[in-house]
Amino acid sequence: MENREIAVVTGASRGLGRAAALALAESGYRVIVATRSAESAEEVVRRIEEAGGEALPLRLDIADPQSINDATATLLAAIAATWAGSRITVLVNNAGVGHFAPLGEVSVADFDDTFAVNVRGPFLLIQALAPQLADGSRVVNLSSSLSRHVSPATAVYAASKAAIEALSRSLALELGRRGIRINTVAPGPTATDFNGGAMRDNAELRLGLGQQTALGRVGEPAEIADAIVALVSPGLRWVTGERIEVSGGVLL
Ligand SMILES: NC(=O)c1ccc[n+]([C@@H]2O[C@H](COP(=O)([O-])OP(=O)(O)OC[C@H]3O[C@@H](n4cnc5c(N)ncnc54)[C@H](OP(=O)(O)O)[C@@H]3O)[C@@H](O)[C@H]2O)c1
Repeated sequence: MENREIAVVTGASRGLGRAAALALAESGYRVIVATRSAESAEEVVRRIEEAGGEALPLRLDIADPQSINDATATLLAAIAATWAGSRITVLVNNAGVGHFAPLGEVSVADFDDTFAVNVRGPFLLIQALAPQLADGSRVVNLSSSLSRHVSPATAVYAASKAAIEALSRSLALELGRRGIRINTVAPGPTATDFNGGAMRDNAELRLGLGQQTALGRVGEPAEIADAIVALVSPGLRWVTGERIEVSGGVLL
């Protein structure tokens, strides 16, 4: 393995984050598997190590600013102790929540949690890690196709994803002079636990959503992960401040 760069992936316990952590390890990155609970990193770290890669677990609740501070300190100490000399060059802000409800049923707590996880957390983590990111690093923030098209009962979630896109563009300008690229990946419907696993387990919904895509089906986690790996690769070194939709062409 040639690449000794470090990639940090949040929400890496399952779904797209897990797939991104595995794919980044496969392409040679040392991976920080950041998960809300310590135990949920174990399987992913083990999988990476069994495949000959290197990974470290990191406990991080992205909704909690104190956890972000603590995790940053823990992360830097762990890198110094285990991978001295390696630099963080990739950050994937993947952890996300969707509290889907019609207007009259959206609670203040769900609104605040959506923005704490999907917007404030990624911002604070970029802020905390920016001094540690090597020049030329890449940040990928997860958005959603729902920032472009509308679907019932998704207003707060869609607004949070529009916010992370605006935030990413601004920070791409702010950090660009260090060669740091910041982009968003906007998946379409993808088969994970998200939204109660509906896109994976509900055959009728899968069919309906699949028919809305040019390629005729919902996506798989590895298809989003491969796009993230491509986006952080040198081949896309001139791309920053962009929103890349990875949706099989949903509602074109
Ligand atoms: N699947 C889709 O169709 C789809 C489409 C568009 C965009 N996305 C976006 O893609 C990203 C990943 O989604 P997914 O499909 O993989 O969802 P998922 O299977 O529900 O996984 C969500 C991940 O986020 C983590 N997470 C949630 N709140 C957290 C917190 N406070 N602190 C740390 N981690 C937290 C979860 O950790 P725990 O295991 O601890 O709960 C889990 O690892 C999200 O940003 C989502 O909005 C997904």
